[in-house]
Amino acid sequence: MRRAVCPGSFDPITNGHLDIIERASKLYDVVHVAVLINKNKQGMFTVEERIELIRETTAHLGNIEIETHLGLLVDFCRERGIPAIIKGLRAVSDFDYELQMAQMNHGLTGVETLFVPTSPTYSFLSSSLVKEVASYGGDVSHLLPEGVNRRLVARIAERNA
Ligand code: PNS
Repeated sequence: MRRAVCPGSFDPITNGHLDIIERASKLYDVVHVAVLINKNKQGMFTVEERIELIRETTAHLGNIEIETHLGLLVDFCRERGIPAIIKGLRAVSDFDYELQMAQMNHGLTGVETLFVPTSPTYSFLSSSLVKEVASYGGDVSHLLPEGVNRRLVARIAERNA
């Protein structure tokens, strides 16, 4: 089985994430989507909610395994025999930090990182920007899977109530 991982915070999953996961799912037998926990960041969605949104959004793909992980990505990969990390590159601005992480991860365990150029439609897209725009009432429905947009709008309304 050829395995790869798409890691991230996924708070929440966007159409940009989905594009990368879909493309990875055509290249590998099994794609692990790893929701990494950042103890220093309070998310908009709980990890369980993020996993549920990813599950709904990737239901049409037959080879996705969704898990959460607290700790190093290289340990997640080592424990599951995953030799490749797939990352979307949106713009040159992503490259600097992504290259550092890729080199660090390779130095730690030999795991490879493969960069997939993001679709130009999503080159400006991030979960943080989507949350910011939505929190001020902006329409981000074209940037999110339908169910994710619905849940985001509801979460913001709950918070403002
Ligand atoms: O969606 P994000 O927040 O841009 O994803 C970043 C993520 C979670 C992939 C990255 O921070 C990560 O790999 N975190 C796990 C902890 C780790 O392995 N840190 C060392 C990186 S060299």
